[in-house]
Amino acid sequence: MPSPTSSGAITSVLQETRVFPPPAEFARAAHVSSLEQYQELWNRAKDDPEGFWAEQAGRLISWFKPWDRVLDWNPPFAKWFEGALVNASYNCVDRHCEGPNKNKAALIWEGEPGDRRVLRYQDLQREVARFANVLKGLGVRKGDVVALYLPMIPELVVAALACARIGAPHTVVFGGFSAEALAGRIQDCKAKVLVTADGGYRRGKVVPLKENADGAAAVCPTLQHVVVYRRTGLDVAWSHGRDHWWHELEANASAVCPPEPVDSEHPLFILYTSGSTGKPKGILHTTGGYLVGTALTTQWVFDIKDDDTYWCTADVGWVTGHSYLVYGPLALGATCVMFEGAPNWPDEGRFWKIIEDYRVTILYTAPTAIRAFMKWGEQFPRRHDLSSLRLLGSVGEPINPEAWMWYHKVIGGGRCPVVDTWWQTETGAIMISPLPGATPTVPGSATRPLPGIVPEVVTKDGTPVGVNEGGFLIVKQPWPSMLRTIYGDDDRYKAQYWSDIPGSYFTGDGARRDENGNFWIMGRVDDVLNVAGHRLSTMEVESALVSHRAVAEAAVVGKPDDLKGQAIAAFVTLESGYAASEELRKELRNHVVKEIGALARPDDIHFTDALPKTRSGKIMRRLLRDIAAGVESGGDTSTLEDLSVMVRLRRFEQKAG
Ligand code: WTA
Repeated sequence: MPSPTSSGAITSVLQETRVFPPPAEFARAAHVSSLEQYQELWNRAKDDPEGFWAEQAGRLISWFKPWDRVLDWNPPFAKWFEGALVNASYNCVDRHCEGPNKNKAALIWEGEPGDRRVLRYQDLQREVARFANVLKGLGVRKGDVVALYLPMIPELVVAALACARIGAPHTVVFGGFSAEALAGRIQDCKAKVLVTADGGYRRGKVVPLKENADGAAAVCPTLQHVVVYRRTGLDVAWSHGRDHWWHELEANASAVCPPEPVDSEHPLFILYTSGSTGKPKGILHTTGGYLVGTALTTQWVFDIKDDDTYWCTADVGWVTGHSYLVYGPLALGATCVMFEGAPNWPDEGRFWKIIEDYRVTILYTAPTAIRAFMKWGEQFPRRHDLSSLRLLGSVGEPINPEAWMWYHKVIGGGRCPVVDTWWQTETGAIMISPLPGATPTVPGSATRPLPGIVPEVVTKDGTPVGVNEGGFLIVKQPWPSMLRTIYGDDDRYKAQYWSDIPGSYFTGDGARRDENGNFWIMGRVDDVLNVAGHRLSTMEVESALVSHRAVAEAAVVGKPDDLKGQAIAAFVTLESGYAASEELRKELRNHVVKEIGALARPDDIHFTDALPKTRSGKIMRRLLRDIAAGVESGGDTSTLEDLSVMVRLRRFEQKAG
């Protein structure tokens, strides 16, 4: 298991003592309304997990046929609600059309240029059924994978639910990924159909999605059809027979398509995320358990009520968008705001204008965004009426107490509870978080595990650490929304998550638990970076760099960044015949963008003549981390093969600086 810090020990310097009890009025009306009630639920779930989960599953989800068994646990392989038949699209759409909510807004959408659309549950049903028939017409059958590479438009939600309707697992690829990254994902899951758009808007420019899709399709032999939604009117190349306009196919599709009852364990989606190796992992989620987990957490953590207007700002390309823009809130029949653009276009007040315009009551966003808002200044939120807000959420990385306080005061007017939610692509749903009507919050802490979730902080060999001691965060019992495997690679699934601490799920995060039972997440302890809330592996960026002809070797590390949490620093040695230059530095940055996407663009590229390595040839990243951060190296360097490398690296830095 890797060492989390230079000294090898996990230490935390945070000493936060401010405590915010749930406002009484909020607590009175909340789904879970006291700490005692929370504790009771947690204890009950701990004593009788299967009974607890069966109760939640029966209460929250509509099943076509009940399960024979709640859990079949064959570590590390779990089957939840085996024997049951269910359909995610039925749960997120049709069942809300059977009662008084059929005319309720499901999605309130705003495009970057300011265009607006509202889809009521009935509209969503018609659109989803139509597109499901379109997919069927293209030969998509139950079990076939469909890739979605779309901007944040309602069609992304429609397409995902249409896949779920016919039992075709989807894989959503974030629109910021490059053609190469898209191709790698399509090749791995052997998608048959790709749904994309001519382009998408980003800060006034058009991102050429179809052009990227064409680049990917050229190297993906499994791909038979590309469906293109016309969003921007951008001219696009066309491959006759393979490419189809969304509107043309839809014009001829029936709006009747009964949802296909699938097994509870039928794959719902594959979502690629970075691990500690160069190749992204296809995280596989299945239907029944995932729906139970996302619906339950949406209800308890966001305290959703029928009249809420809920806004999760995450892109559907990430797990947060899957669980908390699509499946969780729609399963509960909530009204969701969806926004296509960036927070600072056309100006830095865009989010606050949206909240004012739609009277948003619940906002769920990321610390990196909050820190950007702080930097832009209070004048932007002050210009808007934010009094509709009643609850604020944070996700994706540790939120520093200063940002937490700003969010609470400036955005929440001091009256809205803040829920700092810890979870991962792999966990499917929120795991550690305050319940806003029950849990006293502490800035910077995700507080307590949700009922049914049993995390622990342990040492390398699995021994629980003491109060306030840092260690590795694990989860000891299976939960319904957990990943089932890495798509097509059960061995990697076992090795990656279940072998460090045998019998427990290893999260890859470091944490400590304080004397009040609150968890403090300290970030990744493996080679995964968290850049502006996006997961990237150092090796992914390294392989992108070494695929450039000028690069001999590359080592990538994270360095602290006030806005993004972590920035990317790369150390590069060059092939003979190439010389370090500003020109080359630019070329390498662009090369990484082409290989992965703009989110992976290195902030710093350091040219060096050698990398610090151990005698066995392993790059000593912790030394590079210190150099990248501009701090003195502590810790042991005696295993370094060539001590002079460090001296040369430092000298070079001084020259360059
Ligand atoms: C980090 C995003 C601290 C963590 C849902 C985790 C957090 C990784 C928090 C998962 C939080 C997420 N506090 N750290 N509230 N939420 N993380 O898969 O390191 O994109 O392992 O899922 O983000 O990132 P992922």
